[in-house]
Amino acid sequence: MRAIIPVAGLGTRLKPHTHSLPKVLLNVGGKPILGHILDKLVEEKITKATFVVGYLGDKIEKYVTEKYPKIKADFIEQKEMLGLGHAIYTAIPTFDEEEIFIILGDTVFDVNMKQIFSLKTSALGVKTVDDPRRFGVAITENDFITKLVEKPTEPVSKLALVGLYYLKNSKSLADALNELVEKDIRTKNELQLTDALQIMIERGEKISTFPVEGWYDCGKPETLLSTNQFLLSQNGKAIPIENVVINEPVFIADTAKISNSVIGPYATISEGCEIKDSIIKNSIINENGIVHKTMLDNSIVGSNAIIKGNFKKLNAGDSSEIEFY
Ligand code: UTP
Repeated sequence: MRAIIPVAGLGTRLKPHTHSLPKVLLNVGGKPILGHILDKLVEEKITKATFVVGYLGDKIEKYVTEKYPKIKADFIEQKEMLGLGHAIYTAIPTFDEEEIFIILGDTVFDVNMKQIFSLKTSALGVKTVDDPRRFGVAITENDFITKLVEKPTEPVSKLALVGLYYLKNSKSLADALNELVEKDIRTKNELQLTDALQIMIERGEKISTFPVEGWYDCGKPETLLSTNQFLLSQNGKAIPIENVVINEPVFIADTAKISNSVIGPYATISEGCEIKDSIIKNSIINENGIVHKTMLDNSIVGSNAIIKGNFKKLNAGDSSEIEFY
């Protein structure tokens, strides 16, 4: 089995954080998004992976090689962002005879991989969604996909492809990707993986689906924060700190220094942070962030950022009404 992880995107929707850090290295629930994915792969003993890199790819390479020495990693550069189909096409030189598991680098999945890898045919992860217009969708008959449509304008199916693709036959995937690129088949101006998989189906490849209930996007600030909530609710414990009220679930790194504060619920406090006289809930504070005298909710604070507030000084008379927004 070889995992293919496309991580070349610009992460535009997560600016300013992605100015200096690739999206997949942003912290969520106590470690980089990519770390959650790689931990699962290592658990399943998948040791070969191709990373399709582009923007800030050197940082991804450094992270993977330092933190995951057990993974035999190939890094292939996608020079132009032409879409997911093109990203996987770029990875073809690393394909071997083995099965392929494509997993988007910016999504945390809660799935039973053992079950997926025991399937007899290729299969794509799907979830029923109310509005499938921004996804690829699958039309199925007797457990197999008869047609795939990228970003449907007509309501042909609500079974959305969520970013997990288990493909048994790397050769027929490579052939379909080559055709996609040679014929320059585009949907919404992008070379789509969905369209390459449709070519495989037209050529007779049997592809089924598997349900994915736990699917946590990290592509926008609000989804990054809700994924942070989910991950902490699974595993968010901290050891007590003197003069600090901890409302679990939280993640607090060992090297974070916190005093006279209220942390949580759903706060991620990364390595080297310094939090003093503050209240932080439902937020992610990245490495070495400093927060003093500040109340934060629904917030993301970048690495090395400094946030300093102050207490109010009031001389409020009886029956006065003062509101701070
Ligand atoms: P997205 O389109 O969600 O990610 O692609 P993005 O482009 O980084 O984000 P925005 O839209 O600018 O905010 C999903 C995954 O596929 C990869 C991305 O890196 C991300 O992990 N991808 C997408 C590629 O590697 N190459 C592409 O051409 C497109």
